[in-house]
Amino acid sequence: TVLVVDFGAQYAQLIARRVREARVYSEIVPSTMPVAEMLAKRPKAIILSGGPSSVYAEGAPGIDRALFEAGVPVLGLCYGFQLMARELGGTVDNTGSREYGRTELAVERIDSTLFSGTPERQQVWMSHGDACSAAPEGFTVSASTDTVTVAAFENDERRLYGVQHHPEVLHSTHGQQLLEHFLYRGAGLDPSWTTGSIVEEQVAAIKAQVGGKRAICALSGGVDSAVAAALVVKAIGDQLTCVYVDHGLMRQGESEQVEKEFVASTGAQLRVVDASERFLDALAGVSDPEQKRKIIGREFIRVFEQAQAELIAEAGAAGEDVAFLVQGTLYPDVVESGGGTGTANIKSHHNVGGLPDDIEFELVEPLRMLFKDEVRMVGAELGLPDSIVHRQPFPGPGLGIRIVGEVTRERLTVLRAADAIVREELTAAGLDREIWQCPVVLLADVRSVGVQGDGRTYGHPIVLRPVSSEDAMTADWSRLPYDLLAKISNRITNEVPDVNRVTLDITSKPPGTIEWE
Ligand code: XMP
Repeated sequence: TVLVVDFGAQYAQLIARRVREARVYSEIVPSTMPVAEMLAKRPKAIILSGGPSSVYAEGAPGIDRALFEAGVPVLGLCYGFQLMARELGGTVDNTGSREYGRTELAVERIDSTLFSGTPERQQVWMSHGDACSAAPEGFTVSASTDTVTVAAFENDERRLYGVQHHPEVLHSTHGQQLLEHFLYRGAGLDPSWTTGSIVEEQVAAIKAQVGGKRAICALSGGVDSAVAAALVVKAIGDQLTCVYVDHGLMRQGESEQVEKEFVASTGAQLRVVDASERFLDALAGVSDPEQKRKIIGREFIRVFEQAQAELIAEAGAAGEDVAFLVQGTLYPDVVESGGGTGTANIKSHHNVGGLPDDIEFELVEPLRMLFKDEVRMVGAELGLPDSIVHRQPFPGPGLGIRIVGEVTRERLTVLRAADAIVREELTAAGLDREIWQCPVVLLADVRSVGVQGDGRTYGHPIVLRPVSSEDAMTADWSRLPYDLLAKISNRITNEVPDVNRVTLDITSKPPGTIEWE
């Protein structure tokens, strides 16, 4: 393991990803973790991240010098570099000014461990206030910039390295190479962490955790739960039962696709609960978005718990225990909730009679150390089809929050037909991977006048909401080709009854959210 010590920068996750791209496993730890605890993880190398503060600021996070004396190779980046410089006896000047953005780095030692084989002049991304003006004793200065005399230093004997810039961002043109030089040459690591090795490792861990007991997984149709379930099936086969709650708010063909393709590619035991009646009944007369979301969430839990209770009862009758719940939690969630390692216990709330009140489930979260793109790679490795592995995000409440107004069967039928046309045309245009997602929204409470054939129509508008995004936190509207938009518009107004107008949402996020509700 390579530990990335997080000094509060938004860069720590990026660093961890870059290390993994170099096929070396990495984990993020907070800088407040005692060094003894870090070393107890037996890291093969440690990377100190950047951070927002000046090393001179009051309350600025520090690092115990013992870290540099443990014989573990260390690479300091930006703030981490300055901490190293200061702790090891170099000079860091409190400049009071800031340097931010693209900078040209002058490499003075092109044969050095970090810079070997890279150009003498290279573009790097800088973001710092203080600057190192003298390297610690025993260190060689290997790069500088116009304003910073010591922009990189190296000590091969102690295997300690540092650079002022951010090699993890793409603007640093040789950044990945630098990180790899540190990992392979500086720390002597091999690029051996592959998708195959992740699967092997996780399968062994799941087997050890679950043993001979049974597990349950709620399948949503999304990538994460599908990959998590597929991993667990590979480990424990039919000791896992997957439950898919069909809330009747899925798009055309989607539920059938989940059922068929997931089972075909994994051999999983799947129970499908058709609860559409129940959801539609609960949604009758409701048009407030938050209320709709709450109802859908509540019903979902109830239906899942009921299915779960049935499974537990059946297993109990067969003399078995159901003790595990599989979830597709990803690493960013774990990091953001300040989580470390270890398994959380959750209590399941039963509202089904005849069962003990508090059966405790232990969570199985085989993806909790993975980023989204790694999850997709694991899914592909496990043989899941592209339609699952590269599925675009779709909200849990489904079409329920894409009908502005009350959700009814008739309206769902209209929206499904329009949505199917949009998806078909986007796929035909080869744009599935390019756009993040394209919600199609029915403005069921709005009517507009149109003319079709020889007559007046009074129908509903459909809104197209194609967006591009990295993480759904921010998004921009996708500039789809006019010809494609024309085709979609023509088809929808001709083929979908009750729709006489197609509009395009050209709002970025913020201020608009991706979904309309
Ligand atoms: P917004 O509309 O907040 O959406 O910009 C951001 C991303 O989250 C998806 N989304 C949801 N996903 N349950 C989900 O699983 C939900 O309740 C939910 N609401 C929004 C949305 O599709 C987009 O990708």
